This record gives sequence, C-alpha cells and structure tokens, in this order.
Amino acid sequence: ETVEWEAASYDMGGHDTYMHKEISEQPDAVDRVLRGRIDDRFNTVHLGGLNLDPREARAIRRVKILGCGTSYHAGLIGASLIEGMARIPADAEPASEFRYRNPVVDPDTLYIAVSQSGETYDVLAAVQELKRKGARVLGVVNVVGSAIAREADGGVYVHAGPEVCVVSTKCFTNTVVAFALLAVHLGRIRDLSVTDGKRIIEGLRKLPAQIQEILEQEEDIKKLAAQYADAKSMMFIGRVRGYPVALEASLKLKEISYIHAEAYPASELKHGPLALIEPSLPTVAIVPDDDLLEKNRAALEEIKARSGRILAVAHREQEKADHTIVVPKNEDELDPILMGIPLQLLAYHTALALGRDIDKPRNLAKSVTVE
Ligand code: G6P
Repeated sequence: ETVEWEAASYDMGGHDTYMHKEISEQPDAVDRVLRGRIDDRFNTVHLGGLNLDPREARAIRRVKILGCGTSYHAGLIGASLIEGMARIPADAEPASEFRYRNPVVDPDTLYIAVSQSGETYDVLAAVQELKRKGARVLGVVNVVGSAIAREADGGVYVHAGPEVCVVSTKCFTNTVVAFALLAVHLGRIRDLSVTDGKRIIEGLRKLPAQIQEILEQEEDIKKLAAQYADAKSMMFIGRVRGYPVALEASLKLKEISYIHAEAYPASELKHGPLALIEPSLPTVAIVPDDDLLEKNRAALEEIKARSGRILAVAHREQEKADHTIVVPKNEDELDPILMGIPLQLLAYHTALALGRDIDKPRNLAKSVTVE
C-alpha cells in the first residue's frame, strides 16, 4: 500500500514556513490515513500490511510501544487507545531507555516501533535487538520503505506526506489516528462491540472537518500567543488522556520558542509543582468534557488560588481560566487528537512572536540517525 507524493507538495504552497503548511494540511492528512481502511459492514478496520492474523492477534498478552520525541508521545496516546479498545495492557517507553535497560523480551508481547522518518537510530537499534531475540515487531511509520519499515514484521503507514519542519505536527496527528485504527482493528477481533466499533469509526470520520474548525480559530490563538510569549516558563497539565497531550504541547513549545516548559499530570500538581505557581508562570490545562471534568476543574481552582494564569483547552468555556480555547467534542477516546491541534498553533505563534527560526530550531535535527 503506497501513496504517491506530488513533487509540488514540497514547496511552501503560499505558507511562510513548512510548519505552518504542515499544520494546515492536517484535515487532508487525516483523511488519507483513514482512506480505504474502514469496513462499515463489520464496523472494523483493515490494515493491509499488518501481517498479524486474527488468531495471532488474540494471543497478544501485552503491547509495548517504542519511539523517540514526538513519536514517543504519539505512542503514549496509542497505548491508551489500544488498552482502552482492545483491552490489552499497553504502554509506551522511549526507545533509547528500553534499549539500555536489558528488558525482558516476551514472546506474547507485541512490540510497536513508532517513527516519522523510519530512520531514528535508537528506534532502529531497539527493533533490531528485539528481532534478534525473536520478538514480533510492527512499525507505525511515515516514510515508506525506510529502515524501520523494512526491519519490522509488518505495520501501518501513517500517510502524513512529507514533513519538512524539524518539529512534527501533521505526522504526530496521523500517527495517533493510525493507532486508533489499529486499536479498532485489534479491539474488534477481541472484545470491542459492534456498537463501540461503529461509534469510534463515526468519530474518526468527523476528525478532518473538526480539525478544520480548529484551524479557523488561528487568529484568536495568535492573539493569545502574543499574551503568553513573555513567559519565562510554562506549565502544561492534563489528566489520563490529557497528559500525553500536555507532554507533546510542552515539547512543541520548548523546541521552537525556547521557552522552558514542563508537563505534569494534573493530579501530581499538589506533589510538587504547585510550589512554582505564581502570576509569572502560566499554566496550559487540557480540560475535556469527560468523566474527569470535575477533577480537572478542581486543579484549575488550585492554580487560581495561587494567582496562576490559566489557558484552558476545553469543550466549553472554563470559568476559572483566564482564557479558553474551545475545541469541538468527539468521542472521549479521540478527544486527545483534537486537543493537541490548537497547541501546535500556540507554539507556532509564540515562536513567531519571538522571531525564532521555526523550521530549523537551534541544536535539533529532523532525524537523529546516530546514537
Ligand atoms: C528528532 C526530531 C523530533 C522527532 C524525533 C523522532 O528528535 O527533532 O521532532 O520527534 O527525532 O523522530 P522520528 O522520525 O523517529 O519520529
């Protein structure tokens, strides 16, 4: 299964930076990763290159996802999608950490390597070590025919198209959508009901238009960025599904704006970082309308009580926040995909306001092919 890139897609297409172009391409990119993979008759998903028959899929006892940087963050969301829908214990770990701790390699675990480039050395080396020990490894990769795609036993191409900006945006989003497809596929072989399969598939189909709606708020997000660009440091918080969104948003901000940022699970605030909260340290809070809404609102109150400034990303205005970016609601499981998008724009406009070299941040490379 391949997708032909048009040569023209490498030019900036009227955008000032590749990052802006790539953020804007997300509705089409998501459409591409979904295309041809949904089976409405059985409310499931077909993934041509997986090389995993239903009997093998049923025998999986654990899923371990490995990646670096943004791909690791996509893997964290992937793990929660797989655990939630397929009910297989799943977690994600940075590939380099995994490699150096001499992990127990278990034949009943499905290993999944995530990489935009398919060439990141630490991920490739982890895959090779796993294969040498007889493990089954899938790839969730963007670049077709790349080293990791070739080494893996099978996998899912994320079809984000060429990504030029050093920091990943559209590939992150498409990777998470690819994991949602894999989660439905595994789930429907195991215990995900027809109704839930259908519910998630309908949610996936809504994503491109909902992403477009968020992109249309760019002018407002730009104004917000101007208000927060003077911060020396920023805190990002989220709970359960929202936590990897906070991690990725914090990474994006530090990579391109050089503002120090850290991400914390909202529930851990009281165990330390609350000591940092004061008016000069703004917090970006991920506040979805799900079963944890009240818990998240309590965290906003704790921050407000210490005079912290709050920018919320939520499904409706948050009274405790100084500003709220309202995003469209999807199924709870898919909300993290949408909640990350406005924070890509926030990082972008913050970096732009500070005059940074957005497509080529200092000290960073698009793919790290050495140790
Ligand atoms: C580099 C890039 C990051 C990227 C990471 C993993 O550090 O600067 O943006 O997330 O590599 O790259 P990969 O191609 O494996 O996804």
